[in-house]
Amino acid sequence: MNPIVNLFLIKIEVIMKNIKIISSLLLLLVGLPLASQAQTTEFFTPEVTLYVLSGMVVLVAMIVLGVAYTVYTMLGTLMENEEKKKAEAEGREYVPSPSMFTQMIRNWTNAVPLEEEKSIELDHEYDGIRELDNHLPPWWLALFYGSIVFGAVYLFGYHVADWWPLQEEEYQIAEAKAAEALAVNVAQGNVIDENSVEYNSDPTFLEQGKKVYDASCSACHRIDAGGVNGLGPNLADAYWIHGGTIGEIFKTITYGVPANGMAAWEKSLTSEQRSQVTSYIYSLYGSNPPDAREAQGTLVERAGADAVQIEADSVGGGDSLLSQPADSSSIQ
Ligand code: HEC
Repeated sequence: MNPIVNLFLIKIEVIMKNIKIISSLLLLLVGLPLASQAQTTEFFTPEVTLYVLSGMVVLVAMIVLGVAYTVYTMLGTLMENEEKKKAEAEGREYVPSPSMFTQMIRNWTNAVPLEEEKSIELDHEYDGIRELDNHLPPWWLALFYGSIVFGAVYLFGYHVADWWPLQEEEYQIAEAKAAEALAVNVAQGNVIDENSVEYNSDPTFLEQGKKVYDASCSACHRIDAGGVNGLGPNLADAYWIHGGTIGEIFKTITYGVPANGMAAWEKSLTSEQRSQVTSYIYSLYGSNPPDAREAQGTLVERAGADAVQIEADSVGGGDSLLSQPADSSSIQ
């Protein structure tokens, strides 16, 4: 068989094989999201699906490029053979034409070959050093003009026409988006805030709150919430610097009073944990710990059901809590 035809057939075979691989990959590509929708197994989380899909897209792209290159070299070989035959028939020497890559490099550098350097030599010479009058390479010029165009578009788009937001605006947009998302979360009950927080007297809930308190708050407010002189105020009395309603306590815990040494717990505790510790503190009202710190702030009386409960809780000394602040001279 003619060697060229033979080569052609072999190449065709390779291409057919590749096409088979590509089509099965494409099938997988389409099938995977469907499969992951059908059964939400642990493994096919949206991220994993995304990674697998992107990987496959890259793979398919590589195979397509590979096939294109194969076809290209194949055509090149065919054409080279034709050229050779033609040159032979015409009785001249066959000179292979430069490869596409060589051609491309030549176009982008526009460099004068070494043999022809004489043609661009300038007529001055210093200590044997001669100067060549080379052109600026097109790749460099393209970058140069490209950056000028980019700069103009950037300046106009950002500072004149206001097509795109500047850094500060971007930040504000992001903030607004986050606030919106938070509002939605609060509305759906996923996140608790100072408006939606409620006192929960469930013992296990309060137990959770105590855990948070013991771990994060007791160092400054004392393990029994009696307060530490020079550090945290008494949280078990009826006096509050920043308000004693459930919402206000939650707010103080969430945003803190950084100027006075009370940290904001918004980032280090979840809204659930903050609501637990808020309820726990709220439940301590009237626990009347011994040697508690002096009262600070204003008296906050509780109304309705809460007040009844407090009266029951604070039997034996509970009243004194409201009337006379604890001994302030005790140092913890
Ligand atoms: C580093 C010490 C420190 C830690 C830790 C700390 N606090 Fe405080 N906290 C303070 C100080 C100081 C104040 C008083 C702020 C002021 O005077 O404005 C305060 C105030 C408060 C108030 C307001 C009291 C009032 O009278 O209005 C609450 C409620 C509170 N803390 C709860 C907590 C909770 C809950 C935690 C743990 C998650 C905690 N604190 C951890 C130092 C601390």
